[in-house]
Amino acid sequence: MKRIMYISTTTRKLSDEEVDEIGRRSTINNAKVGVTGILLSAHEFFFQILEGEPDDVDRVLERIRRDPRHQDVLILKAEHDIGERFFGRWSMRTVRLDGTSDLILQAIRIMLENITESHRIIERYTQPAVLRFLTDGVNPLSVPVRKTEEVILFGDIVAFSYLSGRFPVEEVAELVNLFLDTCSRQVVAHGGQVSKYVGDCVMAHFPPDAADLAIRACVETLREIQALRGSAGRCRLQKYLYCGFGLSKGLVIEGNIGSSIKMDYTVLGDIVNLAARLEGLTRNIGKAIALSEPVRDACREGWHFERAGEFHLKGQSQPQPIYSITDPVVDDIKTYQQILDDMEELCCELS
Ligand SMILES: Cc1cc2nc3c(=O)[nH]c(=O)nc-3n(C[C@H](O)[C@H](O)[C@H](O)COP(=O)(O)O)c2cc1C
Repeated sequence: MKRIMYISTTTRKLSDEEVDEIGRRSTINNAKVGVTGILLSAHEFFFQILEGEPDDVDRVLERIRRDPRHQDVLILKAEHDIGERFFGRWSMRTVRLDGTSDLILQAIRIMLENITESHRIIERYTQPAVLRFLTDGVNPLSVPVRKTEEVILFGDIVAFSYLSGRFPVEEVAELVNLFLDTCSRQVVAHGGQVSKYVGDCVMAHFPPDAADLAIRACVETLREIQALRGSAGRCRLQKYLYCGFGLSKGLVIEGNIGSSIKMDYTVLGDIVNLAARLEGLTRNIGKAIALSEPVRDACREGWHFERAGEFHLKGQSQPQPIYSITDPVVDDIKTYQQILDDMEELCCELS
């Protein structure tokens, strides 16, 4: 049997009658499939425990997730192979924590509020891969390191170190967040995983059969950023936002790498370094995307690849052919010097 517990946020203030109705429907539906548990409700959140056969729990949870009366369902714990139920007699007992004079219920409400708040904060700081392990009921620290094939993506802002030293920190931070947000959304939307941020740099990885999706994530990010440059946004620096991407493919080591002080679930190896070098090369070849031959060979979509040349990149034993794609948005990149000149102009305007 399986047991899961989650917290979620209400999308609006539900009346007592609405909460009672959720409880009634839950009791009837869960009894039919042998799912037991408890639902605690407060004005701002729900906390629920569901237990039963794995498929039945998953089906009920899937239905619950789609319910528009709440959002941001965060699995706190998933346990597999449980021998005994906690709530064997309740197909779903519902308890309202608001408007009660019972001090124990009030204490539970305060405790859950605090747990919810700290989990929401931790969720924002935690690597998505680690969160996925946790919600699947797997202790990430117990996952062994493995060798696996991946497509690696590196992306960053052109001339970032220059502009970071010349503008107010708030504006620089806003620009970096804009880039990281755009790029990360596209990575996730195309089936990739964001591995980490290093300053203004995004490192992500995709499954080996997702080379097309990795390129698409880059192209769509470039399109969004091109649109941002043309729009009068909140961020004064966004019209100078240009970025470059490197893509490589091959065997990497994936798993827990770190120390007793901090652990990273990450990928590393020669192929990861290569993606970083390719991203640096974009400035030299005048293209916003540079990719290795194995990435090109793994693509099935009709991209127009063009050979950028043969390069001996740092850390690589052999010179290798490097490719880009023919697409106006990939050509819409400025050189380091052009960006510097534009920014000098802005600095003069402002002073
Ligand atoms: C926080 C929350 C918990 C819920 N828990 C359950 C549940 O345990 N079982 C269930 O069948 N429906 C549950 N629901 C309701 C489902 O989302 C859905 O409305 C219901 O299953 C539809 O049932 P019906 O098709 O019988 O009307 C819950 C809804 C919310 C907002």
